[in-house]
Amino acid sequence: MQNKMNHNLIDYIDKQNQYRNLVSFKSNKVNPVHRWFPMVEGFGAEFVRDIILEQKVSPKVCLDPFSGIGTTALACQDLGIKCFAIENSPFFFDVTRAKLRADYESHVFDILISTFDDHLKTCLVELPEMELESKTFFQGNNLDRWIFDKPVANAINDILNHIADFDQNYEIYTALFKVALGAQLIQVSNVYRNGKCLSYLKNWQERSISRNEVHEMFILYCREVLMMDIRSREMIKPDVHNYINVHRGDSRVLISSLPNDSVDVVITSPPYLNSRDYTDIYRLELWIMGYVTKFDQERKLRSSALTSHVQVKLGYLKAPEIDELDRFLSHLEKSKTKLWNKGIPNMIRGYFFDMESILKDMHPKLKSNAMLYINVSNSAYGRMICEVDTIIAKIAERNGYEIVEIRIARYINSSKQQSMRKKLRESVIVLKKLEERGRDCFLLSLENKAAIA
Ligand SMILES: C[S@@+](CC[C@H](N)C(=O)[O-])C[C@H]1O[C@@H](n2cnc3c(N)ncnc32)[C@H](O)[C@@H]1O
Repeated sequence: MQNKMNHNLIDYIDKQNQYRNLVSFKSNKVNPVHRWFPMVEGFGAEFVRDIILEQKVSPKVCLDPFSGIGTTALACQDLGIKCFAIENSPFFFDVTRAKLRADYESHVFDILISTFDDHLKTCLVELPEMELESKTFFQGNNLDRWIFDKPVANAINDILNHIADFDQNYEIYTALFKVALGAQLIQVSNVYRNGKCLSYLKNWQERSISRNEVHEMFILYCREVLMMDIRSREMIKPDVHNYINVHRGDSRVLISSLPNDSVDVVITSPPYLNSRDYTDIYRLELWIMGYVTKFDQERKLRSSALTSHVQVKLGYLKAPEIDELDRFLSHLEKSKTKLWNKGIPNMIRGYFFDMESILKDMHPKLKSNAMLYINVSNSAYGRMICEVDTIIAKIAERNGYEIVEIRIARYINSSKQQSMRKKLRESVIVLKKLEERGRDCFLLSLENKAAIA
């Protein structure tokens, strides 16, 4: 029996046993291809499969407007389902496309890895530093801290230079080598991802990784991860190729270009309202792999992300009018001094403003009765919990969706800044697109409810 609670006329179903492990990236670590780049904010492929399999009629078209490293698109491809995926980060976009290709030939890749390996063994001379506007990356800029030691920087340069020299005929394999390098960067650096950004490892000065060791790690990864997975799936010929359905850019802009009345199911996880800036967390991959070389490009990328952190200065934003949100914002107004950044109230308004615009833009793209599964987490600011799941559900209700239920996936710790004992609910909001006629009746009943209240 599912544990069921009901407040605000919404059903909150306890699905922790089923979802606890699926909403984290953990299960993907042993999942071929899904494991190519570890993204802690991602969900497991099983999460997507579970949802697809519970549908009464097998969906033909799925949408993930916050695609990350393409878990939804790949899980759908494996089930023969077309999936439109939109991702803002050019690095995640490239990782996704590399994962979705099904035309690799293992014997070709094998030869290319061996040639790469032979080439790296000849790389001995000192290389000039990469030309990046940000000078925090490499040892030797009169810095007292740096992210990559000189031998590591040389090795990265060796790999990047060889990738750049690749014959055009092997372009699809170039993308694989880029994934391999991207997946190694954090491990050979002096920093770690602390959840919100990058922090120096405690013993970073004592670490010493040689140029040769970096080369070996890279080749080992190509052989033991990429090659193994390509081999294990070589015989699988997918019916659909989601490679062509992935779009790079801001979903607040791009959703409107999708065909109307085409999507059966939405499975997605937007950035959480937890002040994480993906341009900061994945800074190494973006700068070192050449997606960003100037601060201005970084700023542009940051601004094209959903409002969910305080790094972008925005004018006053008007939030959708939802009781729970109004109460939360007025609590923050009163407790302004306790906030660690004065931009937090505006970020919160912006987050829900953006979520409303995404829900509005998606509406005409969905077929009647299309189902939506949105994985989010509640957040805490000013020592109070913001019920993100409930607020998004209520915003959806005003925009032509029925709230089916909210599935509780697990409880997670709030950030240290909040020092709150109470854990935060991570959940899956389940919505259904109302048919147009149903929608009118529904809006009327909402108005009546408001009038009675
Ligand atoms: C929680 S992650 C999604 C992870 C994904 N479910 C997976 O398993 O790979 C949210 C993603 O949304 C992306 N994102 C943020 N703002 C966006 C926007 N405006 N348009 C498209 N993607 C965006 C981030 O770059 C990040 O990759």
